[in-house]
Amino acid sequence: KMKTFVDGLMSKMTLEEKIGQLNLLTSGAVVTGSAVSTDVEKKIKEGKVGGLLNMTRPEDIKRAQQIAVTQSRLKIPLLFGLDVVHGYKTTFPIPLALSCSWDMDMIERSARVAAIEASADGINWTFSPMVDIARDPRWGRIAEGSGEDPYLGSKIAAAMVKGYQGNDLRKPDNIMACVKHFALYGAAEAGRDYNTTDMSRVRMYNEYFPPYLAAVKAGAATVMTSFNEVDGVPATANKWLMTDVLRNQWGFKGFVVTDYTAINEMVAHGLGDLANVSALALNAGTDMDMVGEGFIETLPASVKAGKVSVKNIDAACRRILEAKYQLGLFDDPYRNSSPERSQNNIYTDAQRSESRKAATESFVLLKNQANLLPLKKQGSIALIGPLANSRTNMTGTWSVSAAIENHPSLLEALQKEVGTDVKINYAKGANLTADSMLEINSTMFGRSLHRDGRSAAALKKEALDIAAQSDIIVAALGEASEMTGEAASRSDIGIPDTQKELLAALLATGKPVVLVLFAGRPMTLTWENQQVPAILNVWFGGCEAGAAIADVLFGAVNPSGKLTATFPQNVGQIPIYYSHKNTGRPLAGNDKWFTKFRSNYLDVSNEPLYPFGYGLSYTSFSYSDITLNSAVLKAGGKLTATVTVTNTGNREGTEVVQLYIRDMVGSIARPVKELKGFERITLKAGAAQQVTFTVTENDLKYYNNELKFGVEPGDFKLFIGTNSRDVKETSFKLQ
Ligand code: IFM
Repeated sequence: KMKTFVDGLMSKMTLEEKIGQLNLLTSGAVVTGSAVSTDVEKKIKEGKVGGLLNMTRPEDIKRAQQIAVTQSRLKIPLLFGLDVVHGYKTTFPIPLALSCSWDMDMIERSARVAAIEASADGINWTFSPMVDIARDPRWGRIAEGSGEDPYLGSKIAAAMVKGYQGNDLRKPDNIMACVKHFALYGAAEAGRDYNTTDMSRVRMYNEYFPPYLAAVKAGAATVMTSFNEVDGVPATANKWLMTDVLRNQWGFKGFVVTDYTAINEMVAHGLGDLANVSALALNAGTDMDMVGEGFIETLPASVKAGKVSVKNIDAACRRILEAKYQLGLFDDPYRNSSPERSQNNIYTDAQRSESRKAATESFVLLKNQANLLPLKKQGSIALIGPLANSRTNMTGTWSVSAAIENHPSLLEALQKEVGTDVKINYAKGANLTADSMLEINSTMFGRSLHRDGRSAAALKKEALDIAAQSDIIVAALGEASEMTGEAASRSDIGIPDTQKELLAALLATGKPVVLVLFAGRPMTLTWENQQVPAILNVWFGGCEAGAAIADVLFGAVNPSGKLTATFPQNVGQIPIYYSHKNTGRPLAGNDKWFTKFRSNYLDVSNEPLYPFGYGLSYTSFSYSDITLNSAVLKAGGKLTATVTVTNTGNREGTEVVQLYIRDMVGSIARPVKELKGFERITLKAGAAQQVTFTVTENDLKYYNNELKFGVEPGDFKLFIGTNSRDVKETSFKLQ
């Protein structure tokens, strides 16, 4: 049916109208590059637009669609794409934070809520999930993904696609997902955004590709190209990537959209003029041109010059029309969006409480000396720091449709939570940063840093005065929302100096200090870890972040988040990730952390500050030794590995039990550990539960040097534990 419909429509289309479908323009509401579309209305009428991106007002969406379906010759409806990255109006924690919950149902729900809300306002396409593996926290966009691990990243990618798209795109509250950024965007050299990437294909297939593939297998309708080059060819013109891998090897049936002006940027990459790079992109398998208008401006002439075939244009146009058909746009271009639907389905109490719960699950307790947390609801608290009363820095980057200034600040949320039980004394204490670049960037997208004109000394004095009147200090410090995200890379990933000086002064009072850390990336916290008794990493928790922080600080919720990206001791250790290779010269068992002629540094050990999978709880868990049902896994068989986990503390808690495997001998060097399973369990104080993982040959497969996916018999180690470092260990053989 779809084929007949699209065939019929295409038979009526001129070449220009077909190319028009490949053109994605912006309304200008959210601009993330140097180009902004002009004469959009005129172009829609002329059939030169396939879709619009980043419109944030439903009335504008409706109007644009009306023009397309009433005033263009063929009345083809438009797609409306938006960066609904961690929620729409009800924002959830940033994706990196969400991933720390290891809660796939919740993550899927967050995408579902986002789809319900965005579709009510007329959005039919989200530029999410971002599934780029990121192992360099200098890269600001690490905030937007699920961290460093391909196994966990794949599970999350699939969950999000399911959440956005449901089972049937025709249902008006499902929207198309867009897996991005294909490929390797997270491997930008030195963590500098948009920088070159270069890696072996073995690494691509084993470590960086799995989450994209998982999203494609989950049915993702669209894929976005990345800005970087892959094997020397920018992804947008990389035929191997877009056609051989994506379509031929993985069976992707949807359409490929570029990132913002990615075609035009290939001129700067040095691949030729606009006509040349546009032809390269189309011929590589890229279907839709975001904002740059290289396709619309140059493809007609390129067809005449024989640089591009009508067949390739037809193929791209067909894919876009098929997406519109699958969304049901030809039957109802508005997909039942209406003010009533918006009114009833957006930012409801139920959605906000889902966001609040998600936020509490995403926080990671990094340190809790002498059980300083949870706080008692009594006495007085000095709440100090530039993030203590900043509404616009609660939600994190890419909150383009949220009313960020309406969400309560931490101070407001804590006051509401404690009422008159606790006296909260507030002082700002320091400006967020003294660095003008950080400051300029941090005020993007309507954020405010509320710069205080008083001197640093005056701000500090006020803070110390209120600290003196209080029993305990809660320091709300860290990064502003826009210190991570797109084009927000940092070479120093510590807490800015203005705030660190404040923290040192607060510690010097001798009062107990809890650091509530706002962050969009793993930060360097070596000094803080030595000096501060309790550190709760709250990332950017979305619209209910304040209430969620109160839930955890006062113990209504016991924290359970586990890191999905390694925290380094210092920047020089980057990239640092748990599933590294052994090298030919690893440290041996009895070696000191520095040993000559071993792979290590003179000035810092190889250990991270906090490893992948790490996160504390207000209770404690113990792990029994591992029991295997057999020491041998036979081809086609199953191995089970069981541990008993006991809650050894005095309150209920949730633990993420993690399974890792090491392939001891392979035809290529294999990582020292790879995550292969996990389970979230909740145990009452004193309770114990058996957790059993099943391992099959499939879990042991990898891409060898010839890029063949398979298993090799031999010895394996199996680890189960509370994080990637603290594990029980056993071994088995694959026959
Ligand atoms: O979706 C984004 C992408 O992640 C970065 N560049 C702009 C796109 C559209 O806003």
